[in-house]
Amino acid sequence: MSLQPHGGTLIQKYQPDYPIDQIDQEIEIDATSLSDLELIGIGAYSPLEGFLNQEDYKSVVKNMRLANGTVWSIPITLPVGEETASHLQIGDAVKLSYKGKVFGVLNLQDRFKPDKELEALQVYQTNDTNHPGVKKLYDRGDVYLGGEIILTKRTAKLFEEHTYDPKETREAFKQRGWKTIVGFQTRNPVHRAHEYIQKTALETVDGLFLNPLVGETKSDDIPADIRMESYQVLLQNYYPKNNVFFGVFLAAMRYAGPREAIFHALVRKNYGCTHFIVGRDHAGVGDYYGTYDAQLMFDQFSPEELGIVPLKFEHSFYCKKCEGMATTKTCPHDKEHHEILSGTKVRGMLRSGVTPPSTFSRPEVVEVLIKGLSKQPV
Ligand code: ADX
Repeated sequence: MSLQPHGGTLIQKYQPDYPIDQIDQEIEIDATSLSDLELIGIGAYSPLEGFLNQEDYKSVVKNMRLANGTVWSIPITLPVGEETASHLQIGDAVKLSYKGKVFGVLNLQDRFKPDKELEALQVYQTNDTNHPGVKKLYDRGDVYLGGEIILTKRTAKLFEEHTYDPKETREAFKQRGWKTIVGFQTRNPVHRAHEYIQKTALETVDGLFLNPLVGETKSDDIPADIRMESYQVLLQNYYPKNNVFFGVFLAAMRYAGPREAIFHALVRKNYGCTHFIVGRDHAGVGDYYGTYDAQLMFDQFSPEELGIVPLKFEHSFYCKKCEGMATTKTCPHDKEHHEILSGTKVRGMLRSGVTPPSTFSRPEVVEVLIKGLSKQPV
C-alpha cells in the first residue's frame, strides 16, 4: 500500500499572513462550514481545494465522483441565504467569518441553487426530515457558493494536544516506522465492541489511528468533551502505548451511512492510513440504512481508485457462552447469550446513572460517562 493522499497531492491552503484587510466582502458561515473550511485548508479533504462548484457538486451527488472522475462521495458545499448570495459577484474574494472572526477567504468561482431533494435522495437515500443529515441539509441556505479557499486562521482547539494535521500524522506514522495503519472513526464512546474490532484489526497492521469525530453531532449523541475523557481512561488502562496514535477529527457528522463511510475512509487516507475499519451500520442513524450497506458501498469502487483498504467487521458483541467478544462469524451460540444494547438504550442508561455491564463497556469508561452526563442540562 502506498501512503499517497487522495488525488496524489496533499493540499495545503493555510496562509495566516494572507492580506484579508484588503477584502471588503464578508459573509458569516455556520459551524459545519467552518470545520469544512479548516479541513480543506489542512489537506484532510485532498484533492478538494475549496467548496464544490456546480459541475463537481452535480457529479458527486449523482456519481460519487468529482467531475474529473476522482472518487468523492459527500458534497462539501458552502450554503448561504439568497439575500447574502445576491450581494456577491463571481470573481469576488469573500472573507469567511464565524461569530465575527475571519477564518478564511473564498475566491468565488460559482454560485448556484442546488436541487436539495435530489441531494437528499442521492446522498442520504431519503428525503425524510426526521433524518438529522437531511434536516440540516434543508435548514441550511438555499444557494451554494463554490470556489477555492484560503484558510487564514485556525480554530481554537478544544483538544489541542490531540489535534493533528494530515501532514503531522503522516510524519508521526513514518517516525514510528509504521507501514500499515488502520483508521478508526467514531462519534461514540469506545465500548467493548469497538475495542474488539480495533484490536482485531491491530493484530494484522502496524498501528491504530484512533480518530474520533469531534465536530458537530446530533443533540442526543454524547458530547465530545465527555467522550474525550472516556477515550483517555480507556487508552491508559487497556491499550498498548507504542502502536496506537490518538487524534481527533474536526468534521461534522452527516449521518449519511454508506456514502459517509467512503468519505470517512478517503479522509483517513489523507491522514496517512492504509486501512479503515467499517463495522456495523457505519455512520448510520435510526434504521435508514441496512446493517452492512456501508461495507457493500466499498465494492462499487476499485481498490486502486480508493487507495485505502476497508476492513469490514460483522456486528460484534460479548458472548456469555464464549466468555469473550465475538461476532456472528466466530460465535455459534444463540442470541440469548449475547450482550447487545442499542446506542439509544445505553445513552438512556448512562443519563439516568445506570451502569451498563462491564461486558458492554469498560467500568472506567462508564464512570467517566455517568459523571460527565450527570453535569449536563437535561
Ligand atoms: S459512526 O457513526 O461514527 O460510524 P460508531 O461510533 O457507532 O458510529 O461506530 C464506529 C465504528 O464502529 C463504525 O465503523 C461502526 O460500523 C463500528 N461499530 C460500532 N458498533 C459496532 C458493533 N457492535 N459491531 C461491529 N462494528 C461496530
